[in-house]
Amino acid sequence: MNIAIVGATGNVGRKIIEVLENKNFSISELFLIASSKSEGKKINFKDEELTVIDLEKFDFSKVKIAFFAAGSAIAEKWAYKVAEKTIVIDNSKFFRKDPDIPLIVPEVNSKELIKVKNKNIIANANCSVIPLVVALKPLHDLYNIKRIIASTYQSVSGAGKAPMDELLSQTQDFFNNKKLESKYFTKQIAFNAIPHIDSFLENGYTKEEQKTSDEVKKILDKKIKITSTCVRIPVLVSHSISANIEFNKKCNLEEIKNVLSTSPGCKVVDEKKDGGYITPVEAENKYETFISRIRQDDSQPNTINLWIVSDNLLKGAALNAVEIAESLIEKNLHER
Ligand SMILES: NC(=O)c1ccc[n+]([C@@H]2O[C@H](COP(=O)([O-])OP(=O)(O)OC[C@H]3O[C@@H](n4cnc5c(N)ncnc54)[C@H](OP(=O)(O)O)[C@@H]3O)[C@@H](O)[C@H]2O)c1
Repeated sequence: MNIAIVGATGNVGRKIIEVLENKNFSISELFLIASSKSEGKKINFKDEELTVIDLEKFDFSKVKIAFFAAGSAIAEKWAYKVAEKTIVIDNSKFFRKDPDIPLIVPEVNSKELIKVKNKNIIANANCSVIPLVVALKPLHDLYNIKRIIASTYQSVSGAGKAPMDELLSQTQDFFNNKKLESKYFTKQIAFNAIPHIDSFLENGYTKEEQKTSDEVKKILDKKIKITSTCVRIPVLVSHSISANIEFNKKCNLEEIKNVLSTSPGCKVVDEKKDGGYITPVEAENKYETFISRIRQDDSQPNTINLWIVSDNLLKGAALNAVEIAESLIEKNLHER
């Protein structure tokens, strides 16, 4: 089938191309779309050199599925129009809260995909929420989660291509004793940690923190209580989450390790020794969600702590989007 990627020159778009290629996804023709400034750029797909097309000039009736990875403003302006002609899988936050639009992490809630029929649009979840629910779904099935306290440690690639360059140039300027310029981040990001992602809300939380709560509830279970703190750190790729999870039922650590070891998308790396855990650098370019530091919370019953790490551009975005397309095809929901 024919496929389009809107935002093909960006961080997530390029990873979608890579995942489609690695999975040998069955494609007749791939159309790479971006803004007018990228029109004519060349990007390789398999053995072909494809030319980037200006979004304003593309006819979406040519494709069966259009991946959108160009931000909320483009999703708002274009997705409804495009969805009249094809199915849209959108990576932005724009549609995630819409009750008529399914918010999908295939390992967790692929049965919700049937709702694609409502508006021909599927939303891909937030890049920290995806690994969190992949790790928590099997535990929720076992012991019923009561409350989650999540602290995220998010890489700069989560903000896009240009913010990655800001970390690199600040690092260089730091060693050259030059003044550090901040354009995309509100404070110096090199050698620092910024407890602020997306804009602030009246209640003191940030929109990223609100997304974490809203999306975990929508995907996993609206009865779960959740609070989070989202922090940007000077790591290029992969988000990490320290999660404290309280269950309604009595839990068993050995059982948790065994279940997570065999759950789809999860990989347990948990040894009580130096280096017996996964760090963001090791998760980069991997498809799995890694779970380490599995331990009982000694301060209250039926509660554990986990350290969860995943490549935010892959499972946190591109890989999950492609897996949504695979599930759609498997369930024969891609035919309109
Ligand atoms: N990065 C992550 O970890 C992550 C994870 C999950 C979801 N997301 C979401 O995915 C989306 C893309 O993020 P990203 O990190 O890939 O951003 P990015 O690296 O900044 O790339 C943005 C893409 O959008 C395109 N674009 C911008 N304005 C456009 C326009 N007017 N018309 C057509 N195309 C336009 C850009 O094309 P040009 O190169 O031509 O400007 C580029 O291809 C965002 O909604 C983001 O929130 C990101």
